[in-house]
Amino acid sequence: SEIYRAGISGAKPRVPVDLAGLERAARRALSAEAFAYIAGGAGAERTMVANRAAFEHWQVWPRPLRDVSTRDLSIDFLGRRRPTPLLLAPLGVMEMAHADADLAVARAAASLGIPYTLSNQASFPMEEVRDAAPDAPRLFQLYWSASDELNASLLRRAEASGCEAIVVTLDTHLLGWRTRDLDLAYLPFTRGLGIAQYTSDPVFQQLVRERAGGPKDAGPGDRVRLTPKTVAAGVSIARKGAALTGEGLRASMRSPLPRAAVETFLDVFSTPALTWGDLAKARDWTRLPIILKGIVHPDDASRALDAGVDGVWVSNHGGRQIDRSVPTLDALPDVVARVGGRVPVVFDSGVRGGADAVIALALGATAVAIGRPYAYGLAIAGEEGVREVVRNVVAELDITLGLSGRTAIAELGPDSLRRI
Ligand code: FNR
Repeated sequence: SEIYRAGISGAKPRVPVDLAGLERAARRALSAEAFAYIAGGAGAERTMVANRAAFEHWQVWPRPLRDVSTRDLSIDFLGRRRPTPLLLAPLGVMEMAHADADLAVARAAASLGIPYTLSNQASFPMEEVRDAAPDAPRLFQLYWSASDELNASLLRRAEASGCEAIVVTLDTHLLGWRTRDLDLAYLPFTRGLGIAQYTSDPVFQQLVRERAGGPKDAGPGDRVRLTPKTVAAGVSIARKGAALTGEGLRASMRSPLPRAAVETFLDVFSTPALTWGDLAKARDWTRLPIILKGIVHPDDASRALDAGVDGVWVSNHGGRQIDRSVPTLDALPDVVARVGGRVPVVFDSGVRGGADAVIALALGATAVAIGRPYAYGLAIAGEEGVREVVRNVVAELDITLGLSGRTAIAELGPDSLRRI
């Protein structure tokens, strides 16, 4: 009602409520490269389209005359009561959307009490994000590195900086075939963007020093010594560089970061050799709950339970990894059935509003995460923009729940929907 009252007073919202308008405004606020990176998907973007299309098979089945004057959106998640069933999905490289990047997202999350997932590819070290928003409920997302020492170090830091759980992303052991980025010759990491978690890490810094010291790897860029100061300078130059227009891959390789740092990053980023057997190591590295992100097949949900994980996150990375992959909403019911309520099931990829969230929750998701929409809010109006986008999703969720004749998230179930 607050949002409606503001509208009726004649004040147009700074961040468009309408989805297409939101995307248009974000496009205007972003460089061509940044918009392509955020909005794009893998290949011909068929998975991205299918994620949205999957919602067309489900309709909310309203039941009036049930007194819905008070409604409760709260859920239990990871041992705590949360005000809404929404989470913010991990988004890397948000400095391309706004200079405050993760700091703005964490502050918005703190003000709403909505858990935020800090990306392995965030633009600020996790300690700085914690200091900017100590009250933000947050999880840390890990891309499993080829270096176990680095994994252990990142998880130690996540635990020390107050993250409530570790989200291990399983669908990015190779970077997807991102056609828009390829055509613009844009790979943000080689420009030094989105690698703050590494450059601030003592294990990573040691790996870079070893590489730069090796005779084979000597080169002009390597003469820059990697110290916190040179890294900070490199990252700030790289941030400005985010607005460059496409000059080809060679230009993006002229990174202001020491060459050894970029090369080390390429060596240790998300290993394709990871197997189920390796996962157990995470238990030695952290006491935090572990959630697996990127589970789409019900057999993998079973394996995740066998491996003793604390949560399953159904995701196809917003259609950014495989073209022609299974849309997550189609995968959700089988995963939910397999999990059988033993651990929470988070859902993402294609959620664009509260009605979408209602459908995923009715199909058994414990919580629903959004990605691109809040990146658009960030691009348009920083922290305030993220807050606006999330508040709009929550408001539509609340209204849809009430109009459907339900007063609590737990009342949503298969009988709330009709399949077409
Ligand atoms: C992502 N995603 C992602 N996932 C992850 O585990 N670690 C990451 O660093 C990133 N980075 C990232 C950047 C950008 C620009 C996008 C759009 C996405 C995937 C993200 O967590 C989530 O799964 C999807 O964004 C969900 O789909 P929607 O809501 O964007 O459709």
